[in-house]
Amino acid sequence: MTKPVAIVTRKWPKENEDRLKELFDVTLNESDKPFTADELKSALQNCDVLMPTVTDKITADILSVENRRAKMIGNFGVGFNHIDIAKAKELGIIVSNTPSVLTDCTADIAMSLLLMAARRVGEGERELRAENWTGWRPTHLLGTKVTGKKLGIIGFGRIGQAVAKRAHFGFDMDILYWDPYDIPSDVTKKFSATKLDTIEDICEESDFVSINCPATKETLHLMNEERFKLMKKTAFVINTARGDIIDEKALVQALVNKEIAGAGLDVFETEPNLPNELKTMENVVSFPHLGSATIETRLAMGNTAIENTLAFFAGTDLPNKVV
Ligand code: DGY
Repeated sequence: MTKPVAIVTRKWPKENEDRLKELFDVTLNESDKPFTADELKSALQNCDVLMPTVTDKITADILSVENRRAKMIGNFGVGFNHIDIAKAKELGIIVSNTPSVLTDCTADIAMSLLLMAARRVGEGERELRAENWTGWRPTHLLGTKVTGKKLGIIGFGRIGQAVAKRAHFGFDMDILYWDPYDIPSDVTKKFSATKLDTIEDICEESDFVSINCPATKETLHLMNEERFKLMKKTAFVINTARGDIIDEKALVQALVNKEIAGAGLDVFETEPNLPNELKTMENVVSFPHLGSATIETRLAMGNTAIENTLAFFAGTDLPNKVV
């Protein structure tokens, strides 16, 4: 039987690539160099399934390429804001993603950012590495206590709930959340989570605001100048979702004007470029989009993308169909 032709846009973990080679007539990207728009178009013309990831901007123009052969996009990643989903739907292109398998690791990174920002861990390590540590003293690098504080979670889906679990059971934090959807009461009861009516309420009440909602038209710049102004001067914002959910200019302003105490960021508006302030301010902890970056999770993401693709070619229900 002829194998489906697959094109993979970035390097995947070796075990995943070995499996891809067995199952598909696959072209891998040994150099790991991102595809240009023209290369993405040409890939769509020359494969049955394109297997891109979060760094590939798959626009309506790219999807509309003439003589497209690809019928499916098996994305490596949970987020699909880099793909024009409406256009894919219109053109009848099936799109799948890899949810669930990265929930825990992303929540771990949210907690790392929260703890590092609150306890000034990055500052301390930089001081030590620069040989500037003069020893223990009662007033050295005093941070903010995390245990028992209020954590406001914007977007109470899988990852938001995993953050709540860690914060509530590990750090005795009070969980507040906002979500446009109703969350089942057995879930909210587990973490004694309280739903607040508005995002403004979350901003006003929380000591830490964690962004865990998907990137959509509605959530673009959800954290803006007005909302930063509502936050406590002692509060921190943590983002492990997508960069453009925060208006980065407004965030920098809020940090410079000391309207908030700090930020912990794993995602940025125009990765890999970020405003200088977010790389240099002592009260900002920035990670290079590490949420799902563990061996276990990346392998699971690859395998999930493969399972979705196999289901498509077998004509069965996709485990994770977006459209
Ligand atoms: C995703 O899968 O969307 C993540 O951002 C990658 O960690």
